[in-house]
Amino acid sequence: KEVIIMAQLIGCLLAMYLCIYLPWKANQKEESRKRKDMYNNLNKKSVDDINVKGKRVLVRCDFNVPLKEGKITDENRLVAALPTIKKLVADGGKVILCSHLGKPKGEPKPELSLAPVAARLTELLGQEVKFAADNEVVGPNAKAAVEAMKDGDIILLENTRYRAEETKNGEAFSKDLASLCDVFVNDAFGTAHRAHCSNVGVAELVDTAVVGYLMQKEIDFLGNAVENPVRPFVAILGGAKVADKLNVISNLLEKCDTLIIGGGMAYTFLKAQGKEIGKSLVDDSKLDYCKDMMAKAKEKGVKLLLPVDAACIK
Ligand code: 3PG
Repeated sequence: KEVIIMAQLIGCLLAMYLCIYLPWKANQKEESRKRKDMYNNLNKKSVDDINVKGKRVLVRCDFNVPLKEGKITDENRLVAALPTIKKLVADGGKVILCSHLGKPKGEPKPELSLAPVAARLTELLGQEVKFAADNEVVGPNAKAAVEAMKDGDIILLENTRYRAEETKNGEAFSKDLASLCDVFVNDAFGTAHRAHCSNVGVAELVDTAVVGYLMQKEIDFLGNAVENPVRPFVAILGGAKVADKLNVISNLLEKCDTLIIGGGMAYTFLKAQGKEIGKSLVDDSKLDYCKDMMAKAKEKGVKLLLPVDAACIK
């Protein structure tokens, strides 16, 4: 009788091993493979992997900085771009910087010119950053400025959104940008969620397209922090626009333990909770989405934290 019980026990254990443990192990392996694939997909060639000596290098930066009466009031984005620019200059590239600034909606708007950025970059780098004033962005003036460049020189093009094609990823402007360079470097992480000529269109037309240090740092950080987080994993989101962050909020709720929402977008969530928000920034079309996200957080056991007080100014 004991032998039969023993045999049944071994049978049970074997069945558990085959039906539960092995499929679980296979699933774990598959998950880990997917994580590795995703991480490898994020592995991009960078400015460290190329030789730019004597080459025209177009660098997409995010110089969308706040301006007051022509003065830059927060230069963090300029400072963050310096390591990539310095590296390309040191390597003997002809460095052509470009960026958008504000929303000129396809027309030249003097108050949104990048001229003040060129002046400040000149001070920060201790080297002239020539401003290629040109309402067509890549028009006769910009082309002549690029033509005259020597190795190690830097120029800044005019606001890419002076061109109507930019925000539509139109072919003509992408081609214009590509015609200016031999190598394209994308270092505009803050603009990575846009598919515009100056980040997506041009990259498809240039043989060598790599990322800069700022983009690399963000990719490395995001890859690790989001895919292999140290727990508890707290994510903090801010900014004005809920609509731009729809997928991010939903995806983060799948991964983090706490999500803190601050900045302008918090008011859309507060209004969705039925709170008074006065004349604060709000996106009324996203109230239902915010409600869904709060319900999702509850369901997933994720703490979603919103500001509990706010300062009012006249
Ligand atoms: C930003 O400041 O969020 C980026 O530069 C993108 O700007 P945009 O929202 O005008 O596209």
